Amino acid sequence: MSNLISSVRDHIAHVTINRPDARNALSKETNEELSALAAELGSNSDVRAVVLRGSGEKSFCAGADLKERKGVSPADTGPYVDAISGAITAWSKIPQPTLAVVNGFAFGGGMELAIACDLRIAADNALFGLTEVRLGIMPGAGGTQRLPRLIGVSAAKELILLGKRIDAKQALALGLVSAVVPQAELDSKVEEIVAELTLCAPLSTRMAKEAIDRGTEVGIEEGLQIERACYEKTLFTEDRNEGLRAFAEKRAPKYQGR
Ligand code: COA
Repeated sequence: MSNLISSVRDHIAHVTINRPDARNALSKETNEELSALAAELGSNSDVRAVVLRGSGEKSFCAGADLKERKGVSPADTGPYVDAISGAITAWSKIPQPTLAVVNGFAFGGGMELAIACDLRIAADNALFGLTEVRLGIMPGAGGTQRLPRLIGVSAAKELILLGKRIDAKQALALGLVSAVVPQAELDSKVEEIVAELTLCAPLSTRMAKEAIDRGTEVGIEEGLQIERACYEKTLFTEDRNEGLRAFAEKRAPKYQGR
């Protein structure tokens, strides 16, 4: 995978979009790699969480590759847009918790990718924007759907309809990110979050994520049934027994993801 760097260390997958000269913009090939990697990591039971970064210090991801897109024929535009929205949807469907680490720009598809993750943190130089309306298009990879669900319709309309760019502090105030730290402290903040995630039972976090993602798309009654079904998948697991045993024995649990 030439546009992505990926490794798994201590049950955590670390993925970096590696196109610093293009501010980590999403080329067709990068989208295909992101889709394939999302499927691969999602089915890897050794992976308990996924951390996504942009290479370099300037940019998480500058969105669709505008240079490449300029050369796409009208007939190929549909499949081209499908590739980026497919990649971002694939990323949103990874069953394990995902964390976007936003250093610098997150524009267009880059912001759509960040909001397809479960958690987001930002360096103090981060800039976010669904800027597509300023380019004569509109967000087409989930932005109009995921952003209002995250920060509310009113704030999402302000950002999207004006193609506004906001800084890390504003993103924090809107609840778009959960923390903002100086760029030099970004890696230690990631480690802190990863350490918290690894305290949790892997199947529990997967099931809780599924319950939230599916349950918030339906009415409360159906949502409660989804929650119940997910909860039941955590019963009769070795990890549930381990959690109870560890509590009784006043020690930290050792979860196996079974
Ligand atoms: N697609 C393709 N290439 C991109 C890109 C994109 N989305 N964003 C940046 N690049 C390229 C630039 O063309 C430039 O390449 P060059 O060195 O061959 O000229 C290189 O990355 C550096 O970009 P530059 O604009 O010089 O850097 P900067 O740090 O001053 O600004 C951005 C970076 C991201 C603010 C600016 O490039 C930009 O606004 N990009 C478009 C972002 C956008 O609107 N995305 C939404 C797409 S729907």
